[in-house]
Amino acid sequence: MLSQPNAQPATTAFGSRIIALSERLAQWSESRDGLTCTYLSAAHRAVAAELCALMRNAGMTAKIDAVGNVVGRYPAADPAANTPPSARTLITASHYDTVVNAGKYDGRLGIVTPLVVIEHLHRTGQRLPYSLELIAFSEEEGVRFAAPYIGSSAVAGRFDMKLLERRDANGVALGDALRQAGFLPEAIPRLARPPQDLLCYIEVHIEQGPVLLQAGLPVGIVTSIAGAVRHLLTVRGVAGHAGTVPMALRRDAAAAAAEIVLAVEKRCRATPTLVGTVGRLAVPEGAINVIPGACELTLDIRAGDDATRDAAGADIFAEIEAIAERRGVTIEAQEIIDNAAVACAPRIQQLLAEAVARAGVRPLHLPSGAGHDAAMFDGCTDLGMLFVRCGNGGVSHSPRETVSAEDADLAARILLDVLLNFPSPP
Ligand code: GLV
Ligand code: MN
Ligand code: MN
Repeated sequence: MLSQPNAQPATTAFGSRIIALSERLAQWSESRDGLTCTYLSAAHRAVAAELCALMRNAGMTAKIDAVGNVVGRYPAADPAANTPPSARTLITASHYDTVVNAGKYDGRLGIVTPLVVIEHLHRTGQRLPYSLELIAFSEEEGVRFAAPYIGSSAVAGRFDMKLLERRDANGVALGDALRQAGFLPEAIPRLARPPQDLLCYIEVHIEQGPVLLQAGLPVGIVTSIAGAVRHLLTVRGVAGHAGTVPMALRRDAAAAAAEIVLAVEKRCRATPTLVGTVGRLAVPEGAINVIPGACELTLDIRAGDDATRDAAGADIFAEIEAIAERRGVTIEAQEIIDNAAVACAPRIQQLLAEAVARAGVRPLHLPSGAGHDAAMFDGCTDLGMLFVRCGNGGVSHSPRETVSAEDADLAARILLDVLLNFPSPP
């Protein structure tokens, strides 16, 4: 078939720059193949330095704060609007850390999209009637310390200082890792923003699912962010010789863990919006000829509403107890997060929907099954999120994650529209 030169919308400079910047940030990785950028690694520090430089080139003041967030500020036109008590700030943000073997857009799309918008404002000499902050949060995924939202919880004033004692897989405590990297953990409480200084929080994020793709829409407006409960489970059985212990006499920790995986799957399949995942499963010091004496696994349960999630959690833990009893093993559970579902502010949804419509796109509202930094700002300021279509069937947390330059371009134009038309602060 002959190609039709006018069939695709033209990609403007925003879209191609967003893709180029995402590629540029992806050059720093802990893994040789693919992208891995976990908290305070050399790759992570390099990305922070690059973001700081990019923000300064875009006319922002920029600094790296006590948890590694890169905070850029594009001051308001009126100097009086930059100093308390009349200073009001609109925050747009997302995270620059990644999961292991990640895609290039989860988190980073919500940093480079506002960045290109601010580059444009700077280039064209435009200032806004309020100060705009672009924050690249240092840690959202929870990979290194099993503690997600480190960066955003600090800015939202919800950072739990007890987390400084949490250790990574090498036994390094978070507080020590911060000090070794040159940060001052004692300063974290001072990162909290007074809610009265904030206008709102807006996050652009790749959808990480197939809803927009299936609807044939480039962007969507998020209504709510699912809550999540996460646990670390340790199953202890009895190690033994793989050749000599009869099957009926074994107390195999990995076999018990396998039953837990299936119990989670069965319970969560039964209810719409409910999802449950065992994402890590390890036999410490396991060997081919040894019956597993211990098994460590993670459990993540989410749902659109907290009652559904909590009911599933109760059923799954009852089943875990029954498995332990039946198999003669012990199972310890440590809860690592319990985040309630959060609603996006109707007024921010409305502003986003109006800008989406002005861009000629049908505004579609959809819930988020993934967690986002935005959720940390619940109760602190009004929050809203713009989702951008995820290619490749909606796959994310994978190197196969894609965003098209056209969709990224449109998201940037919509964000610019929202910022330019944001109702004047009182
Ligand atoms: C963050 O990516 C999450 O786990 O939802
Ligand atoms: Mn993610
Ligand atoms: Mn993300």
